[in-house]
Amino acid sequence: MSSREQFSSKTGFVMAAAGSAIGLGNIWGFPTQTASNGGAAFVVVYFSMALFLAYPALMAELIIGRYARANMVTALRLISPGAASKAIATGVGFTGVIIASLILSFYAIVAGWMVAFLLESITSTIGLDSVSSWLTTFSFERNMIFMALFMTLTMSIVASGVEGGIEKWSTRLMPMLIVILISLIIYVTTQEGASEGLEIYLVPDFSQINPALIIDAMGQAFFSLSLGVGTMLIYGSYLGKDESLPKLGAAVTLIDASIAFTAGLLIIPAIYVAKYNGAEVFSDSGLLIAGPDLIFQVLPSLFSSMGSAGLLVAFAFFSLMTIASLTSSISMLEVPVALAAEETSSGRVKATIVIGSIVFGISSIILVNFELLFDFVINLTTVYSQPLLGVMLCIFAGWVWHRNTLLKEIQSGHPDIEKSLFWKIWPHYVRFVCPVLILAAFIQSVVA
Ligand code: PFF
Repeated sequence: MSSREQFSSKTGFVMAAAGSAIGLGNIWGFPTQTASNGGAAFVVVYFSMALFLAYPALMAELIIGRYARANMVTALRLISPGAASKAIATGVGFTGVIIASLILSFYAIVAGWMVAFLLESITSTIGLDSVSSWLTTFSFERNMIFMALFMTLTMSIVASGVEGGIEKWSTRLMPMLIVILISLIIYVTTQEGASEGLEIYLVPDFSQINPALIIDAMGQAFFSLSLGVGTMLIYGSYLGKDESLPKLGAAVTLIDASIAFTAGLLIIPAIYVAKYNGAEVFSDSGLLIAGPDLIFQVLPSLFSSMGSAGLLVAFAFFSLMTIASLTSSISMLEVPVALAAEETSSGRVKATIVIGSIVFGISSIILVNFELLFDFVINLTTVYSQPLLGVMLCIFAGWVWHRNTLLKEIQSGHPDIEKSLFWKIWPHYVRFVCPVLILAAFIQSVVA
């Protein structure tokens, strides 16, 4: 046990956990959900969800993970006192690991598209027109090649370990992501048309708040904080006992929500700049184009209308998307790899190769049956599984785990915590309020 890997510092953890949280969900999902759900009204609901539901659930994962210093299956079993709860722990743990792998299997496909478009900004610059058009046209071969490339990148980082791979790359890539994001915002918001987008984004229309919006905001908050599937649990397990978990968790939540909000300042104005430049930004049904067409048609058409600056903007934009995807995908792969490496005697490298190949196989199956499986896997994992697993983790932290051990773990690294609001509220909150609210929102969405 003494050789278990660990993050080298608080900053290392924050970079890795924020890197996991900040992904396509923030830069693509959040802004487009906002645009199609009443603008700033969605932002307000989302922030409430992040604070009142996702943050408490994140804390449950971090606390269980650091206490157990193990993968999700072993950790949940460790805090379960009886045979029945241990059996449920095994079921929930394995479900989390499988869902994390399934999320990676579709995420790697989408991230592969980002890499293809990134390369296209280079091939266009040097005039390789037929290569450029191959890179940006949907085809089985292109999808497979770039998914494989992205999986290989993810695997090579995870194989290098917690400190030498995950922490090192997150610490390098996250500052780059922020610099690119801010540079793009400065450029895009100074273009004609941007102010219309800013207005839609920043002026709330509270009449649009309805049950569907609330459930969307909740799903988005859970996806964005990488919850339910053991990612944050395993990252918590690599944290030292002398760190304050409530503070670190709050930092990660705040960074994640701020980057989502900031990404909105780029994407929504960009859509309206594209509209100003003559692009079609509404679908036939009158709704804003928000799905893959936004990223792979509307925005590229905006970039090409910007002349030679457009190539640079496209390069920066798809670098941003690739970096955001990579720091998230490594956290997804770490979940099954940690389980395999800890529970079998195979080392991290072997575990990474085996699990990475399995996920590659699943992604390939999705690509072969794209129409049938792509949306299905996304809905199954993110809309249904993540919130329900989040409820289970809250129940394990609040009901199954022995109270005193839980409280002791919260105190570790934060000796004066008894004076804090967190101490007074969270232990009850995670027992009663979190499961009830998440389930209520969930049932609401299923029956609605
Ligand atoms: N949080 C990531 C995003 O917002 O894109 C997605 C994600 C990462 C989901 C890791 C689940 C996960 F385990």
